[in-house]
Amino acid sequence: MRRHVAKKVEELCAKCGLCEEIVACANPVSCAGCLACVAACPYNARLVEEVEVSPIKVFIEGVEYEVADGATAKDALEQAGFSVSKLPNEGWLYAPCETGGCFSCLIKLNDEVVRACVAQVRDGDRIEFLREGEVAPLRIVTRPQGHFVGGVGTPWWVKSTTRYVEVAIWAAGCNLRCPQCQNYDITYRGKGKPLSSLEAARMLTAARRRYGVDRMAISGGEPTLNRAWLTQFFKHLKRLNPDERARLHLDTNATILTKEYIDELVQECGVTDVGPDLKGCRVETFMKITGITDRSLAERYLSNSWSAVKYLRDCYGDKVFVGVGVPYNPDLITLDELAEIGDRLASIDPEMQVCVLDYRPIFKRRDIKRPSFEDMVLAKQMLERSGLKTVIAQTVYGHIGP
Ligand code: FES
Repeated sequence: MRRHVAKKVEELCAKCGLCEEIVACANPVSCAGCLACVAACPYNARLVEEVEVSPIKVFIEGVEYEVADGATAKDALEQAGFSVSKLPNEGWLYAPCETGGCFSCLIKLNDEVVRACVAQVRDGDRIEFLREGEVAPLRIVTRPQGHFVGGVGTPWWVKSTTRYVEVAIWAAGCNLRCPQCQNYDITYRGKGKPLSSLEAARMLTAARRRYGVDRMAISGGEPTLNRAWLTQFFKHLKRLNPDERARLHLDTNATILTKEYIDELVQECGVTDVGPDLKGCRVETFMKITGITDRSLAERYLSNSWSAVKYLRDCYGDKVFVGVGVPYNPDLITLDELAEIGDRLASIDPEMQVCVLDYRPIFKRRDIKRPSFEDMVLAKQMLERSGLKTVIAQTVYGHIGP
């Protein structure tokens, strides 16, 4: 049988140590082919190879299947005919990040709860799916940090240059593969102790007191991937912060945010501020920015993110602050498309806060140039020409706008 492995290309390796430090590697000696190190390497020094391996027998829900020796449990499930999906509720296994950060793909392997995307299977192993609620949701998150300006979903009038306005944590794991990921050391983190939603909510609440702020945020990575964890996290956060001043802020790529998910976040979890990122309005641009190569998946992600913005404004405009983020770099998106984005956003609500972000050369795209101050002024003007009243531009000299 054939399966994938990752191979290190010594000449390209910059010895940055990122793969050892953050990548969840089940077996550094015998690669399981999770390919998390391929996704995470900023220098493209890991390549994918196909190798011939012996077949082994595994038992999935008690039934015997033949799969490739040493593969990940996720790949073994796929080889056995169990569908794996990047979207929730669409397959036997939901594995949106595939790098061990989001903990959405938990299964039981020989009675131990593991992440299917990074756990390795051997001959005779037993795989079982978890029943709903069988284990408490977990997620790898960073320690909280205080912020002067917050994220895209932070209202412009609270941003400051002299005092903290928000505390935030970042959740590991993302369903996108942006080659210029601005937070890649968090996005691809699969190592470290995962936290329960209560532990994370307590940690953020303590940080709120320490920094003397009212705003508490989660960003990523992509926080929405593990829905059970995120919704519980916000519920705990709300319970621990019952005062009216407390603001619960979610920054998200909005690619899996359905109406019903938004309803739960707002009505049951008390989310007060949302910062969705819109990575283009044409699917080709979205694919270029996000690294998603499956066109139909890209179309669904893009459509979901726009629908989420519209739904948030139409249904929760009076209840939830929505600040949209739009990435900009002339190498990734044209000014024409920016104008199209502006038109679409203005048709939803011209008063909506829009923050155009200057995408820096980073991660796998160190070849692009950071947009100049003038580039960002032009990008801001392009959006304003559509009738948007509140456009902030992130520039090399700081934010400009209201
Ligand atoms: S899909 Fe396995 S941890 Fe995210």
